Amino acid sequence: MNIVEKAVEDYMRRLNAVDDEPVLLEMEALAEERSFPIIGRLCGRALEVLARSINATRVFELGSGFGFSAYWFARATGPEGEIHLTDMDPANEKLALDFLGRAGLAEPIEYHVSDALDALNSTTGEFDIVYCDIDKDGYPDAWRAGRERVRVGGYYICDNMLWSGRVAAPAAEHDEWTKAIHETNSLIATDPSFRSTIIPTRDGVVAALRIS
Ligand SMILES: C[S@@+](CC[C@H](N)C(=O)[O-])C[C@H]1O[C@@H](n2cnc3c(N)ncnc32)[C@H](O)[C@@H]1O
Repeated sequence: MNIVEKAVEDYMRRLNAVDDEPVLLEMEALAEERSFPIIGRLCGRALEVLARSINATRVFELGSGFGFSAYWFARATGPEGEIHLTDMDPANEKLALDFLGRAGLAEPIEYHVSDALDALNSTTGEFDIVYCDIDKDGYPDAWRAGRERVRVGGYYICDNMLWSGRVAAPAAEHDEWTKAIHETNSLIATDPSFRSTIIPTRDGVVAALRIS
């Protein structure tokens, strides 16, 4: 199921053509060629706007791939930021450092080739943003670990929260990943320390603002 009608997405994408630049186009082409699930340009823009809206400088990403989502966070934080990227595949680190370096966005980047939660647990302090995009069965644990680490006034952001609409099907039809995403949506929506909204662009991105 397309959450947003393709013609409407194409329209929004045309508006964002101002972002066209060679490295971004290369990253999008690689994702297309490998069917690699990047967050996409429209939601990438949302990451940048959310980060800029709270003057974010310290970001922790759970599941970074080759750096597409970090590209947008790095645009927001600038070189003075600190953006932790995590992925278990060292080939993704190499690609990310190359892409982000050529885009002039490498300075805030620290890449951990590691399980995302292990890296989070071994990195101290609070973050302006914790962003999650790992394998979906890990979402409930990522929320439980990540929510604690978001400063008051910061965001927990997580991709694929509408899962092509599968979360809206009756619970009996949910497979393991759909179940985990639905559980995470419920945990976030009912957490009194957060006010959250799902931005229904592409596959749904939750932005949960820590209020207490
Ligand atoms: C959906 S992709 C990330 C895409 C990236 N956020 C973007 O928008 O370009 C998920 C990535 O997370 C990695 N991954 C999945 N589970 C992980 C885990 N538990 N710890 C670290 N990396 C993980 C996968 O190797 C994959 O590269």
